[in-house]
Amino acid sequence: MIDLKAFFHMSYGLYLVSSRDGDAVAGCTVNTLSQVTAEPVRMTVAVNKDNVTAQVIQRSGLFTGVALAQSAGMELIGAFGFHSSRDYDKFGAFRTAEDENGVPYVAEQTVARFSCKVIDEVDLGTHILFVGEVLSAERLSDEEPMTYAYYHKVKNGVTPPKASTYQPEAGVKKGFRCTVCGYILEADTLPADFICPICRQGADKFVPLGG
Ligand SMILES: Cc1cc2nc3c(=O)[nH]c(=O)nc-3n(C[C@H](O)[C@H](O)[C@H](O)COP(=O)(O)O)c2cc1C
Repeated sequence: MIDLKAFFHMSYGLYLVSSRDGDAVAGCTVNTLSQVTAEPVRMTVAVNKDNVTAQVIQRSGLFTGVALAQSAGMELIGAFGFHSSRDYDKFGAFRTAEDENGVPYVAEQTVARFSCKVIDEVDLGTHILFVGEVLSAERLSDEEPMTYAYYHKVKNGVTPPKASTYQPEAGVKKGFRCTVCGYILEADTLPADFICPICRQGADKFVPLGG
């Protein structure tokens, strides 16, 4: 048997991973970035094949991860985690910088940066596991990093279907999802003056569940 609740006892951090291939720039929120070897320093990240970020990493052979600060806002996590780089400028609203490879990364609300060159890819079915050799890394702030548990317990964050650790919302049948931060309102109707309790966006940013 596989008790899916066992997976709630796994610990992760929360990161943004980005890449650039010519004019194509993409990035998304991930919890799957991790250091896997020390000499040489290598990292892996699992990115859904449907995410634009996976396609841009495949073309460029580069990815840059930043670790989010514990104080990072839901607007930032939501912009990168609930929108597609296909039709949304994720970097425009935030302070960004470029690494040595020309890959943009978010330079605010983040505590560390890791720039990697892809040395291997593993097809995991829904996701691609990118193995990266770290070309450069730096600390960006002394703040505490955000953990996945903090994101769920304190920030009331949710995890969308494309995430590696997605589990369907048990018992939620009818409701509306905030497209900015992923908050789910369980209700039959959405009041026109509703304000998201997490990211303070209005009702116009909500879509019906399954929509
Ligand atoms: C908390 C959280 C964790 C996530 N973890 C992952 C992950 O590890 N891998 C992944 O492919 N997507 C993950 N996602 C989903 C992507 O961030 C999301 O599908 C994003 O919209 C993809 O954007 P893109 O199409 O611009 O690449 C996560 C989202 C959130 C909010």
